[in-house]
Amino acid sequence: MEFQGKVAVITGAASGIGRETALILGQRGATVVLADIQEEAGQKTLRELQSQNIRAEFITNDVTRLDQIHALFATAIAHYAQVDILVNCAGIARRTPVPEITPEEWDLVFSINLKSAFFCSQAALNHMCARQYGKIVSIASASGKSGGVAVGAHYSASKAGIICMTKSLALYAAPYRINVNSVCPGPIATPMTEVWGDAVNTAFAEMVPFKRYGTPGEVAEAIAFLASDRSQYITGETLDVNGGLIMD
Ligand SMILES: NC(=O)c1ccc[n+]([C@@H]2O[C@H](COP(=O)([O-])OP(=O)(O)OC[C@H]3O[C@@H](n4cnc5c(N)ncnc54)[C@H](O)[C@@H]3O)[C@@H](O)[C@H]2O)c1
Repeated sequence: MEFQGKVAVITGAASGIGRETALILGQRGATVVLADIQEEAGQKTLRELQSQNIRAEFITNDVTRLDQIHALFATAIAHYAQVDILVNCAGIARRTPVPEITPEEWDLVFSINLKSAFFCSQAALNHMCARQYGKIVSIASASGKSGGVAVGAHYSASKAGIICMTKSLALYAAPYRINVNSVCPGPIATPMTEVWGDAVNTAFAEMVPFKRYGTPGEVAEAIAFLASDRSQYITGETLDVNGGLIMD
């Protein structure tokens, strides 16, 4: 129960990696504030946590809205007095080819994948710095290192931004004894990749040295490590969870 007494806010918690992270942190003692734009799926995840006696609540939240980000943290702090862990998991993937990416789609991808992670981190840090305790974990992507084979240029660029932003926030937060890290998954079997279809997913799995997609639980374990006190001396790091796809 390494997260006993800790409060975690997880964006994109209704589905996939965020959902699995909520379960793992909750099973290990955390109180979990689930945030997601999908109301129904979020309530379903909430019921799943509560059926395991995990203290949790779901807040409908659009991470592109600054007012909703501020409301999310205000509610979490009002209800639980503290936020110890933030996991920035909300994201969308677009596979649009370069000639077809519009300015609107570029802005949407950056807004959900990168801008939101910054402003959620800013809101969390405003609170965490005063307490001199906190863990922030954001989800990047292997495509943020290699460029997008499976995904669009805007997606991979937004994830490269997560990697660099993580380092800047880690430098800022270090004097307050706050750890800021990111996880860099390769292809993972979640609703995000499911929609790509069997042919595409089989072809991409072949590119991975382990010859398979990762599971959301395998990514959530890495997130849990970086959210715990076991990684106290690790900050500004990007931890690959990719079956050997990229080794750097
Ligand atoms: N699945 C993969 O192969 C893979 C690989 C690398 C990185 N990632 C990243 O992992 C994270 C989780 O993705 P996943 O694979 O679990 O996909 P997912 O689609 O299952 O989960 C993403 C969640 O983000 C939520 N979300 C989307 N827009 C939002 C918004 N505006 N406000 C609030 N929530 C919003 C969705 O509702 C969804 O619940 C994402 O950041 C994704 O880019 C996924």
